[in-house]
Amino acid sequence: METIEGLQQRVDYEKGRKGYPEGFPPLPDIPAERYISPEFYQLELKYLWQRSWLYAGHKDQFPKVGSFLKFEGVPGMPVIVVRTENGFNAFYNTCSHRGGCIVQERQGTCLGKRLICGYHAWTYNLDGELLGVPDSRDFDGLDKSKRGLVKLRCETWGGWIFINAALDAEPLQQYLGVLPGQLAQFDLDKLSYITSYSYDVACNWKVLMDAFAENYHFVSVHRGSVGLPGPKCAVDHHGTVMSLFKNGHSRNILPWNDGFQPTADVSEETGFSMGMGGIADIPSVGPIPRQFVTAFTAFPNLTTPVYANGFPLLLFWPTGINTSRFEVIWFGLPHGESALPEAWKQKIEAFNFILDEDLTYLPSVQLSAESPAFRSIVLNYQERRIYHAHEQIDRVIGADQIPERLRVQQVLAPFVE
Ligand code: FES
Repeated sequence: METIEGLQQRVDYEKGRKGYPEGFPPLPDIPAERYISPEFYQLELKYLWQRSWLYAGHKDQFPKVGSFLKFEGVPGMPVIVVRTENGFNAFYNTCSHRGGCIVQERQGTCLGKRLICGYHAWTYNLDGELLGVPDSRDFDGLDKSKRGLVKLRCETWGGWIFINAALDAEPLQQYLGVLPGQLAQFDLDKLSYITSYSYDVACNWKVLMDAFAENYHFVSVHRGSVGLPGPKCAVDHHGTVMSLFKNGHSRNILPWNDGFQPTADVSEETGFSMGMGGIADIPSVGPIPRQFVTAFTAFPNLTTPVYANGFPLLLFWPTGINTSRFEVIWFGLPHGESALPEAWKQKIEAFNFILDEDLTYLPSVQLSAESPAFRSIVLNYQERRIYHAHEQIDRVIGADQIPERLRVQQVLAPFVE
C-alpha cells in the first residue's frame, strides 16, 4: 500500500538529485516520422485504434433504455453506443443491408427500443438483432439471424463507457491494471457529468498526448500560470514522481511549490488563480491527490488530472496526420442546479487558461516537425512517460508490422511498476 510518506520520499529524492538517475537507461531517439508519415498514421488507424479500449461516453448521457450516443473519435470507426435493459451495447453505425447510417443524430433515444435504419427502415433490437425487413418477400433466402448489427466490445469503469473493436481484447478492468484501484477514492460511480467541450488542433494527436505527459515545459509554455517561478505559483517540476504501469498507462505526481495554496493563492505577476475554491470535495478522496497535483494516463489517449473537488478527462483523437480533436469532459459531485454554478465556471476558466497556453503553442510544433531538420526526438528522464506510451503503441500495432525506421526500441520494461 502506497503511503504519503513513501511518496514524499520519492519526491524528495527527485528534488535532491544532482544528476541522471543511476541505473535508468538513456532513452533512444523516437523517429520524427511517427508524427508526420502517412504510413505510420495508417498503421495507427488499422491496428492501434482498432485494438484499444477507447472512452465513448458517460452513463449520464443515457437517461433511458434505448438512449444512444454516437462515437466518432476515430476516422473509419463510426459507432453507436446504446443503453439496454442490462447495461450498454456498442455497434458500428452501419446497416447490414446497404451500409446505411442507423442513427444520424449525435445523441438521442430510439422509439420503442428499436434501432431503425434511416435508409430502408430495417429494424434492429438493442442487442443488434435484425427483427424487421420491409418487403421481405422480395429477398430470396434472407437469413435475418446472420444480418444483425456488427458489435464491438463495450464495458464500463465507474460511469465511464469504453469500447474496443477487438472482440478478443482483454477485459477493460484487467487492461486498466492499477488505475481502477488508484481512482477508486474518487467514488467514480457517484460522479456526474458536469460539462464538456472540444478543440480542433492543427497537430498530430501524439503531439498533444506528449505535452500532457511531462512537466518539463511548464516553466516556459506555462510561465503565465502554473509554471511561473516564485513563492506564489505554483508547482515544482523538479520533484515530479512518475510511475509507469503495464499496458502503457502511467501516473504523474507533481508537488506544489512550498507554501503555495491552490485554493487561495493568486499569482502576483499575472493574476492567475487555480480557481479551486467553492466546490465541495469528494469526501472519499485520500491524501495523495490533496497534497500533490496527480494525473493518470490510460493508454492510448486519455489523461486525467484529478482534483479532490472534480476533474476533467482529456482525450486526444486523430482527425488526420497533422490534425486532432482535443476533448475535455468534466466530472464532479452532482451540483443540483440546472445551470453551471459560478464556482465551477471559475474552476473551468482557470483550467482553460492553462490549456490555452498549450493549444497556442502546439500547432507550431507540428509545423516544425514537418521540417527536414527534424529527424528524431531525444527525450530526457522527465519525459519518460512519452517513451513508455510509444513503446506500447508499437506493441499494440506489432513491431513486425512497423518498418524498422519507424519503430522505437523497447527499453522500459524493467521500470514498469
Ligand atoms: Fe439500412 Fe437499407 S441500408 S435499410
